[in-house]
Amino acid sequence: MKVIVGSEEKISALIAEEFIKQVNAKPNSVLGLATGTSPLGVYANLVKANKEGRVSFKDVVTFNLDEYIGLDGTHNQSYRYFMNVNLFDHIDIDKSKTHVLKGVGDYLAYANQYDAEIASFGGIDLQILGIGSDGHIAFNEPGTPFDSLTHVAELAESTIVDNSRLFNDISEVPTKAVTMGLKSIMNARKIVLIATGINKAKAIKNLLRGDKTEEVPCSILQDHPDCTIYVDEAAYSLVK
Ligand code: GLP
Repeated sequence: MKVIVGSEEKISALIAEEFIKQVNAKPNSVLGLATGTSPLGVYANLVKANKEGRVSFKDVVTFNLDEYIGLDGTHNQSYRYFMNVNLFDHIDIDKSKTHVLKGVGDYLAYANQYDAEIASFGGIDLQILGIGSDGHIAFNEPGTPFDSLTHVAELAESTIVDNSRLFNDISEVPTKAVTMGLKSIMNARKIVLIATGINKAKAIKNLLRGDKTEEVPCSILQDHPDCTIYVDEAAYSLVK
């Protein structure tokens, strides 16, 4: 794993350039996208680059990592809604080529064919990840098998607490989600992970200095052949 340390502004711009490079080299790239506050700066940079004509997303295919069970795509905390308002609505992407797991209805059937659907497009070329304070990636909480594909996951108590800041009340935070598994994520050809703030410092230390163990889901990334970790000073502070 490579590590790049810089301000949130700087690392967001650097990751955006990786996406721009990828899409300009292969206009029909398959991109793996993440939600959460961490990738917001990256998405803002991509919107700007698209408006400036530096990149076009019109042939791009996207797959998102996860979705809360119980929220449909119009709910303002659903990940489909997040992707629309923070990225898709502002770029020249064909929305029919954007895939987000379903949180309602036949969500299980959709989840069960998600990995095959990704494979049918040739697999993910470039995947962006955030990280949970407990070391989760997507919604793969501690204890998730390393060989997991897309599945239903129970959210850890700490994740419910972390994510409650975005809801009116903690009781509104869904307790389950559908998520790409750890193996699904590892299948991506290239991975970039972004982490900022002191709340992520322990997870980053475990990722960069800890053992590879299912108790620390992100530690599986230690085995990925092309994974770069982008952190700010606060998130990196326990590593030095
Ligand atoms: C959620 C998402 C993860 C994300 C994490 C961190 O639990 N399922 O994909 O990485 O939150 O979110 P944030 O970037 O807001 O700290």
